[in-house]
Amino acid sequence: MIEFRKVSKEYRNGTKAVTNVDFKVEKGEFVFIVGSSGAGKSTLLKLITHEENPSSGELIVNNMDISTLKKRQIPYFRRTMGIVFQDFRLIPKMNVFDNVAFAMRVVCASEKAIASRVPYVLELVNLKDKLKYYPAELSGGEQQRVGLARALVNNPDLIIADEPTGNVDPSLSFEIIDLLNKINSYGTTILMVTHEHNLALKFRKRTIKIEDGEIISDSIWEELKNEA
Ligand SMILES: Nc1ncnc2c1ncn2[C@@H]1O[C@H](COP(=O)(O)OP(=O)(O)OP(=O)(O)O)[C@@H](O)[C@H]1O
Ligand SMILES: [Mg+2]
Repeated sequence: MIEFRKVSKEYRNGTKAVTNVDFKVEKGEFVFIVGSSGAGKSTLLKLITHEENPSSGELIVNNMDISTLKKRQIPYFRRTMGIVFQDFRLIPKMNVFDNVAFAMRVVCASEKAIASRVPYVLELVNLKDKLKYYPAELSGGEQQRVGLARALVNNPDLIIADEPTGNVDPSLSFEIIDLLNKINSYGTTILMVTHEHNLALKFRKRTIKIEDGEIISDSIWEELKNEA
């Protein structure tokens, strides 16, 4: 589903954020990406969502070499994925319901489908009593959960989540990962950046660790190595 082939990303100011990264994620996997601040985690996700372009190497997403995507194809490409942004990116002038409904409106869902689906996903993230609130009236953790609901609402094949538990307390973190785990068990591929190594360990999922833009460990690979 996702394959990095010797991918590097150097930003315009010369920062080398990702260097020579090689890995593959199969359909249906759940992968944690961990590493310290500035390690290159968000950059890695932005390459997958085509928010940034690789400086070199090849990146295949859904059997497509994404460097060949035309500008006009990018919105369609992104609609196949649910993206949870580290900085939320909610629309300030829309209330919680409409922020989530917006993701369904852009794919031309019927108002009837929106009226039943949006409250359902907002209930999944424990926000069904805040449908009418505006982003500025919510805590950071609540805004983050609206972002998560928006990523889930169209039932995407792939969820890319950048620190979806970055602003919530430990019990809620657990619930959010548990929810993603359930969604994964129905077949959705999940890539999630987290600082919470303990939680990542608890869920026993494949964990890729990056440091200074390079992969320094990949738990699946390590396990295979230990078995050999
Ligand atoms: N748009 C940009 N222009 C230039 N440099 C950037 C840009 N975005 C990120 N960087 C740099 O690239 C490196 C990796 O950043 P990135 O945001 O991928 O880290 P991260 O692992 O997500 O960190 P955090 O855990 O703090 O979110 C850092 O050195 C950062 O300063
Ligand atoms: Mg980041």
